[in-house]
Amino acid sequence: MSLDGMLPLVTALPDHLAGSERLLDGLSPRPAPAAPRRVLLCGMGGSAIAGDVARPFLARQGVDLTVWREYDLPSWADASALVVLCSYSGDTEETLTGARLAVAAGCPVLGIASGGELLARGRDGGWGRPFPVIALPAGLPPRAALGHGLGALLGGLHACGAIGSPAAASAAAVAVLREGVARLGPDVPENPAVRIARSLLGRFTVVYTTSPEAHGAGARLKAQINENAKSPAYAVALPELDHNDIVGWEVLRPRRDAFALVILRGGDEHPRTALRVAATLDLVGGEFHAVHEIGARGDGPLARSLSLVQFGDYLSCYMARAAGVDPVPVARIDALKARLRGGTAP
Ligand code: F6R
Repeated sequence: MSLDGMLPLVTALPDHLAGSERLLDGLSPRPAPAAPRRVLLCGMGGSAIAGDVARPFLARQGVDLTVWREYDLPSWADASALVVLCSYSGDTEETLTGARLAVAAGCPVLGIASGGELLARGRDGGWGRPFPVIALPAGLPPRAALGHGLGALLGGLHACGAIGSPAAASAAAVAVLREGVARLGPDVPENPAVRIARSLLGRFTVVYTTSPEAHGAGARLKAQINENAKSPAYAVALPELDHNDIVGWEVLRPRRDAFALVILRGGDEHPRTALRVAATLDLVGGEFHAVHEIGARGDGPLARSLSLVQFGDYLSCYMARAAGVDPVPVARIDALKARLRGGTAP
């Protein structure tokens, strides 16, 4: 068992993103020139997160992206909306159900997968018509393919005219991520991600996020702590959490040692939310064993969101290492999928 099998993949995030332009070479059929203003991204787990991370960047380009983690489609998904189907394995049943419905509803459709039924049916038209599928490199844990999947998403949206070229934003993000490897990577002494990982170890991690650039990274950190560190976590967003979460700690106060708080701060915080962070911490900071704030770095929403993602990815691997657990396998997810495959297929 290699306890560090995930770390090289976290370190490869900037390379994966930088190399993702090539994924669109030879794509056939080419995505329809739809120039949609509304995009629905269907996906689950590690494959959906590319949509969450891309959202603030796309919003700046006038594109409203909805990330959809359900079997069915929303009622507004019709021929005027682009549906992006993201499943790294290409076999996730919720995403495949949405895919069939989107094809049947006549939506312009774009797939992103490394294989599986999604790639096969896109190519052979077995669901009624062929559709373009951007093929990702195979053989990775789905959550470690974020750089490929995100690059494919942005490149695919550009190819169908939804956004201008993402090249400059991607290059800025790659540069920030490379700095991040030098600051947070496995061989770095005085590593802030290692230090925070030690204080989260053995505790339930609560993630507060302050703005759209941080919300996707919060969902990612929650999932990475679950899947890599095999530990519990949840993520909630400001300003909403000020209307419920802050009240929810009183009864557990005697057990404060079991909880730690991580605050992810985007560069796009509303000034009132910045005020809320201090006021919120005055109220609930004492309910946690430790409170850590992580600020986004870099220029532009894509770079800043990804800088937070990268911090959390390293953090979750250092938690796994400190706990002596292998970050790569997700046996319960595999077992659940196998059990459902044995039942009635959708
Ligand atoms: C595993 C992981 C999971 C999967 C999810 C959906 O590394 O991250 O969250 O991403 O079970 O599977 P895919 O991505 O194959 O559609």
